[in-house]
Amino acid sequence: MNLQIKSFDEYKRVYEYSVNEPEKFWAEIASSFTWKKRWNSVLEWNFKEPNIKWFQGATLNITENCLDRHLENNADTPAIIWEPNDPEEHHRVLSYRQLHDKVCQFANVLKNNGAKKGDRICIYLPMVPELAIAVLACARIGAVHSVVFGGFSAQSIADRINDAACSLVITADGGFRGNKNIPLKDIIDDALVQCQSVDKVIVLTRSRTPISMIKGRDVWWEDEIKKVETQGNPDCPAEEMDAEDMLFVLYTSGSTGKPKGVVHTCGGYMVYAGYTFANVFQYQPGEVYICTADIGWITGHSYIVYGPLSQGATNVMFEGIPTYPDAGRFWDIVEKHKVNILYTAPTAIRSLMSFGDEPLKGKDLSSIKKLGSVGEPINEEAWHWYDEKIGAKNAPIVDTWWQTENGGIMISPIAGVTPTKPGYATLPLPGIQPVLVDENGKEIEGNGVSGNLCIKFPWPGIIRTTYGDHERCRQTYFSTYENMYFTGDGCLRDEDGYYRITGRVDDVLNVSGHRIGTAEVENAINMHSDVVESAVVGYPHEIKGQGVYAYVILGTSSHDKELTRKNILQTVTRIIGAIAKPDKIQFVTGLPKTRSGKIMRRILRKIAEGDIANLGDTSTLLNPAVVDEIKDGI
Ligand code: PRX
Repeated sequence: MNLQIKSFDEYKRVYEYSVNEPEKFWAEIASSFTWKKRWNSVLEWNFKEPNIKWFQGATLNITENCLDRHLENNADTPAIIWEPNDPEEHHRVLSYRQLHDKVCQFANVLKNNGAKKGDRICIYLPMVPELAIAVLACARIGAVHSVVFGGFSAQSIADRINDAACSLVITADGGFRGNKNIPLKDIIDDALVQCQSVDKVIVLTRSRTPISMIKGRDVWWEDEIKKVETQGNPDCPAEEMDAEDMLFVLYTSGSTGKPKGVVHTCGGYMVYAGYTFANVFQYQPGEVYICTADIGWITGHSYIVYGPLSQGATNVMFEGIPTYPDAGRFWDIVEKHKVNILYTAPTAIRSLMSFGDEPLKGKDLSSIKKLGSVGEPINEEAWHWYDEKIGAKNAPIVDTWWQTENGGIMISPIAGVTPTKPGYATLPLPGIQPVLVDENGKEIEGNGVSGNLCIKFPWPGIIRTTYGDHERCRQTYFSTYENMYFTGDGCLRDEDGYYRITGRVDDVLNVSGHRIGTAEVENAINMHSDVVESAVVGYPHEIKGQGVYAYVILGTSSHDKELTRKNILQTVTRIIGAIAKPDKIQFVTGLPKTRSGKIMRRILRKIAEGDIANLGDTSTLLNPAVVDEIKDGI
């Protein structure tokens, strides 16, 4: 079967088939990948435990699909075009041949440093080609990578390393983002004070920041490469992996305190990331594609590394941020590398939109053929701006809805095939069976309805477990509604059957496309010695989509409120990272609670949104007077 659907009628036909004959459908899709051994069964599953197994009995190595299989005909095709943070620095191009060789080389470095199949390896690197190389090198030897976004704090890294008992860390001296130089190695050093499992750290030279190298533990990337070179074997045979062997773990926030390690496995994830990339973006050989996400998030895993590379695509990887050195940077990159497909986040679009048309002046965007959006709902104004100013009303926009737990895009237009509608993720991809359910778990049928979004049948990229705690996986995703995967998102289905995601229905925030648990932020705020209690909610934010609003009760020890405010921000930065810093802190003397002591977040959300006229009945609260006080305080 061709991975790409070419007309809306074909979409309808293929979708029907994928629902009626899911095993046949996925077997046909999977056949376009390279396997060492074919599967005995396509799918075995139940959502009760859950126990989900795709392509059992099959063996493969995902890097053979991302690298080796392109060498015969496309060895010289650029795999990664790396665009540095500083436009004055030279960009780098790695062909599939070069990327293959570098991955093999570094895979041998990993082996020399004691890494083997099944080991967990933490990667904390800036957006340089070596990050993709490190990820692929882990996969090459069957080690499980756990990439941690460069914006997370030492404490967050330590928690992630300890949860998966990583034995090795790959980092850099420092990393550039805009005009910041992030001291990655220092942060790792702070984290490792708390981590007993790590015995090796491999350090890449990037920023030339002075760092401490600990004897016996820390080694330089470049020195280790030299050793491999003198050993004289440039190849590293790909480890034969079972389809259901773990490929990676990636931590994400939920409604409870601790981030959980979402586990994806080799076979199903490969098929799903590769298929959705090829189909949604309708990637054609020779096209230049850029995804502006960071590899530290799932979007980067699936749509910078595994999806595009499995399809032999040419991938621009950008180290920096959209506004550095100025708000025309994305457009400079599009012009410089003649980008055909741009995949970015609504928060970036809104931010660039706020600079007006000036940064677009004189920029040649005529190469743009397709546009993508991911990570949060895209508001209509941003959608139209993207469509008109960037796509010249000539480039289909794919608004792709999906989650870390899904492995790849779930509900989305297929570029140029599905008629789009601003603000709508439109229709499910083949193989995806979304349902809307009411509070009691009853399916809401028909169109023109809204409810909680669930998926009632597995797809190859579905989460298999949460690392080290299967029960948590069951409880979080499979216990709310019987026999369904619960997304945590609210959704409406309009008269045409089109889906529009309305946002999270749990206590998870989406700040600039980053998923942040309110409980996590509260825990961090509560670490501050002056804080007695806190409650965190989201509120609409013009650029970030959602902002973090914290209500904080202080103890008697705090005398200088302004300083305390700054100290709280510093505490959150230290415990989680700057991405979780509250945008607003309101000091209060009490929080609205039910008689059983539960915080009424609904009321706090309304106040944060400025919707104080519609607070509903507050008379049943334990402390109704506190609501007036909070209202008066904003
Ligand atoms: O609320 C949805 C929102 O982002 C959440 C998933 O976050 P994460 O696992 O970090 O993955 C982000 C990148 C795939 C979802 O539960 N979300 C993601 N894409 C969209 C979206 N909301 C609306 N429209 C989207 N296109």
